[in-house]
Amino acid sequence: MLDDTAAMLAALQAAMGPRGLLVGDDALPYCRDWRDLYHGATPAVARPANTGELAELVRICVERRVPMVPQGGNTSMVGGAVPSEDGRQLVVSLARMNRVRDVDPHDMTMVVEAGVPWKTAQDAAAEHGCLLPLSISSEGTAQVGGILSTNAGGNNTLRYGNARDLVLGIEAVLPDGQVLQALRRLRKDNTGYALRHLLVGAEGTLGFISAAVLKLVPRPLETVVALCAVPSAQAATALFRGVQQHDAAAIQAFEYMSGTGMEFVLRHIPGATLPLAQPAPHYVLIELATTRPGAGLRETLQTALEQGLESGTLDDAAFAESEAQRQAIWKLREEHAEAQKREGASIKNDVSVPVSRVAEMIERASAACAALIPGVRPVPFGHLGDGNIHMNLEQPESWEPSDFLARSDDVMHAVNEVVRDLGGSFSAEHGVGRLKTSMMPEWRGGVELETMRRIKAALDPLGLMNPGKLFPA
Ligand code: MLT
Ligand code: ZN
Repeated sequence: MLDDTAAMLAALQAAMGPRGLLVGDDALPYCRDWRDLYHGATPAVARPANTGELAELVRICVERRVPMVPQGGNTSMVGGAVPSEDGRQLVVSLARMNRVRDVDPHDMTMVVEAGVPWKTAQDAAAEHGCLLPLSISSEGTAQVGGILSTNAGGNNTLRYGNARDLVLGIEAVLPDGQVLQALRRLRKDNTGYALRHLLVGAEGTLGFISAAVLKLVPRPLETVVALCAVPSAQAATALFRGVQQHDAAAIQAFEYMSGTGMEFVLRHIPGATLPLAQPAPHYVLIELATTRPGAGLRETLQTALEQGLESGTLDDAAFAESEAQRQAIWKLREEHAEAQKREGASIKNDVSVPVSRVAEMIERASAACAALIPGVRPVPFGHLGDGNIHMNLEQPESWEPSDFLARSDDVMHAVNEVVRDLGGSFSAEHGVGRLKTSMMPEWRGGVELETMRRIKAALDPLGLMNPGKLFPA
């Protein structure tokens, strides 16, 4: 080990104690991403236990010019939390900063530290009769800091917005080691730049989010969930409009799944079963929820679906009759990413288009990829209700995974061409990370990217925060 690395580790150890550092094999899992696209290296994983230790760690790194990579649950889909291969970047895991500091059901807020798993925060809110609304497939592992840093979206965006919309206040350690204390729980506070919104979605390039005040909402009194078989993606969007006409405000989630994706889930996920008489080419999962007593949501959805049957936008539907059935239906949706991984190599395109263009995007992008790679298996799924579809592609059955992944750029380009034509975005909720930096000049170039660079330079002039992410080289 080089002398200066040893000295840095000794300084970090002194600041954080014996539990504060992981080295050798213990550090390896922190150097690989969930998709197994990147195999980085790090001198150590630093694990501060509180904001004071985190600030001290940053000061030590600044003094020695050591780049830092913030990491939460390490569930990024775009390699946003892994270090580079050169072994110079220090991984900083926020996992030990895991206190729920406060839940206030009167103000409808909670104060949570960065390393709290999102599900733990949801459970803490529920104990106080509140709902922390954002919900994503990886919520059992993903942590508050990562969810805010990537401005995660998920299944309930159409009703409650993205992570950004839940953040009232923030505490952060800036790239020079100063602590930004803005943990205000105010619904109104017009006092200059909303600095919290700079850090939310910055993907760890402007500092560490160490804690946040999150907005809560009342827990729904009534929830209805149905899994629907539909004949086409067009029918799925038509059904969405139909349900909107009956009770738009009650739509909690409106998720689309392809027949292929559902097949993968049924094949690979233990316990997954289809609650319908037969498989369908396309599915939607609808959840309605309300805090209004006696709102009769079941009847509302029933009427909307009957109209769907009459007009040909629906073939069949199964309602969840119990909490266990509700969870079983959601499992079919939530396990899509895992099932796809077990089926083989996949190329992910986390795109968004205006909701009215979703079906056209799915059809055109699937056709473009099939023309490029005969035998490719399109697996579009996701958040139809907000226009964000995971336009994922599974390798042809007979191909080697590495041969398929070698075509990633071509495939992503083909999808992006369609998305651009429809006025969409190349990254709706997963962020840019390391995987998509090269797309930034084309999509966000000119004044937009230049302004981002100026903000970055102002806050992190040494470029030590999560280098290689978000910005093109
Ligand atoms: C999801 O909604 O399940 C994830 O964002 C998906 C993915 O692209 O695999
Ligand atoms: Zn998603």
